[in-house]
Amino acid sequence: MTWSRREFVKVCAGAASSVAIADSTRAFAQLQGDKIETANTHQVHAIQDTETPQQKDSRMRWFREARFGMFIHWGLYAIPAGRWDGKDIPGIGEWIMNNASIPVAPYKSLAAQFNPTKFDAAGIVGLAKAAGMKYIVITAKHHDGFAMFDSKADPFNIIQAAPFKRDPLKELAAECRRQGIKLGFYYSQDQDWTAPGGAAYKTGDHQPPAYHWDSAQDGSFSKYLRSKAIPQLRELLSDYGDFPAIVWFDTPTKDMTPELAGEIVKVLNEHPRLIWNNRLGGGYQGDTETPEQYVPAQGFPGRDWESCMTINDTWGYKQGDTNFKSTEDLLRNLIDIASKGGNYLLNIGPMATGEVPSPEVERLRKIGQWLNVNGEAVYGTKATLFGAEAGSLSATQKGEDGKPKFIPSWKWRSTTAEKKVYIHLLEWPGSVFHLDSTPRTVAGVYLLADKSKKQLRITKNAHGIDISLPEQAPDPIASVLVLETT
Ligand code: GLC
Repeated sequence: MTWSRREFVKVCAGAASSVAIADSTRAFAQLQGDKIETANTHQVHAIQDTETPQQKDSRMRWFREARFGMFIHWGLYAIPAGRWDGKDIPGIGEWIMNNASIPVAPYKSLAAQFNPTKFDAAGIVGLAKAAGMKYIVITAKHHDGFAMFDSKADPFNIIQAAPFKRDPLKELAAECRRQGIKLGFYYSQDQDWTAPGGAAYKTGDHQPPAYHWDSAQDGSFSKYLRSKAIPQLRELLSDYGDFPAIVWFDTPTKDMTPELAGEIVKVLNEHPRLIWNNRLGGGYQGDTETPEQYVPAQGFPGRDWESCMTINDTWGYKQGDTNFKSTEDLLRNLIDIASKGGNYLLNIGPMATGEVPSPEVERLRKIGQWLNVNGEAVYGTKATLFGAEAGSLSATQKGEDGKPKFIPSWKWRSTTAEKKVYIHLLEWPGSVFHLDSTPRTVAGVYLLADKSKKQLRITKNAHGIDISLPEQAPDPIASVLVLETT
C-alpha cells in the first residue's frame, strides 16, 4: 500500500493519540509513493556500523535515561499561522507554503517581518525543565528552507534576512548548558522548498518529477545538498560548543541516494558522541526509530526509539488549532511509551512573537508536577517485564495493514528498575490491585506518592497476589505502586 503524505498524516492524527497503529509504517521514508532505494552496504560506514556495543551503550546512555524531551517547531510559518490570502489552509502549520502552493518570493518575504522579540530562551528551557523534560530538539531549518540560526552558508536566515538579528539556537544552547539539559537540532536535509534543487514531497496537484510549484525551486539536488545542506550542517555541528547532542533529520526522498547520504555521514562521523535518527535516507538506519503521532504496540525491541507527537494537531503554530490533548492523554502517552522502552518527544509551537501558547505551557507544567512526585518510575527505567497489560490483538478486527488489530487496554502500565518494578495505575482499581503473576519475587510494596513509604498489605494466593490499596487514588491520572523486588 502506498499512502500520500496527507493521507498518512490524517490517519495518524485521527488515531486517538496513543492508540497503536501496529506496524503501520516503519518505513516512514517510503510514504512518498516513489519507492526509496535502501542500501545495506555503504561506501561510507556510519558510526552505528563501526562502534562496539559498549561504545553504543555509552553514546546512547543519556538518551535512554531521559525518556521525555521537548520538540520545538518554530519558524516563519508561525507568521501566517495557518492562514494565507484570507483563507484557512488545511494541514499542519509548517507545511503552509507547500499546502497553499505559495511561490518562493512571497514566502521568503515573510522573513522581513520576523521579529520575535518575546523569544526568551531562559523561559523556554525553564519550561522544559518544569515539565520534567531532559532534552530539547528545535527546528534549525524546516522544509521551508529558512535557517533559524546564524548561517554563513546561505543568506536566507534569521540574522541576515530578518530584523531580529539574534540567533535563537545560540541563546538556547547557552541556557541548556546553564540549566543542565541537552539540546538537539532538527534539520530538513532533503526537502527545501525555497532553495533551487531542494526536494518536495508530493502534495495536491504538484507535478512530477520534482513536485515543485514554482520554477524558482528547480535545480540540481546534489548541488543544493553540497552548497546549502551540508555546509549548514557543518555550521550547526561546529558553532554551538558541545551541542547538538542530536541531529534530527526528516522526510528523506529518493533523491537522497546512498552516495549523497554518505557525504552527510562523513560529516556526522566527525562528531562521535552525536545521536541521529532514522530519517537521513540513503538506507542509513541511524540510532533511533521515530514513530510519528503514535506509540508502537510493542515498542521496537532491539532498537532505540522516540515517539514524536503534536500537543494539538499541528507542529508549527496555527492560530485556529485549539484541539489540545488533555494532560491526562499526554501523561498516559508518556507512561505508555516508557513502559515500552521509548522516549516521548512532545512538541510545542511558539508563535511569531516567540511566546509559547498558554494552553501548551499549562499542560507541560502539569506533567512536570506529576513527574516531580513520580519521576523515579519514568527516568532511567526499562520496559515492562509483564507485557500483556498494554492490550491484545483482536481475534476479529483487522487493522489498516490487514493484520489483527491491536486493542489497547488502559488499566495499568509497568516500568522496571534494578530492584523495583513500578505499576502505573491508570484506573484506580478500588481497595485491591490484583496481579496474576509477578516477574520477580516481591518483597514489599508502597505508593510512590507516599513519602513515608508505608508498606501496603500483600496477600499471596493460588491466583497471584493482591495488594491492598487505600480507597482514594493519590493522583487522579496515574498513581504508581513500587514493588520492591529481589
Ligand atoms: C514530518 C513533517 C513535519 C514535522 C515532522 C515531525 O515529517 O514533514 O512537518 O516536522 O514530521 O516529526
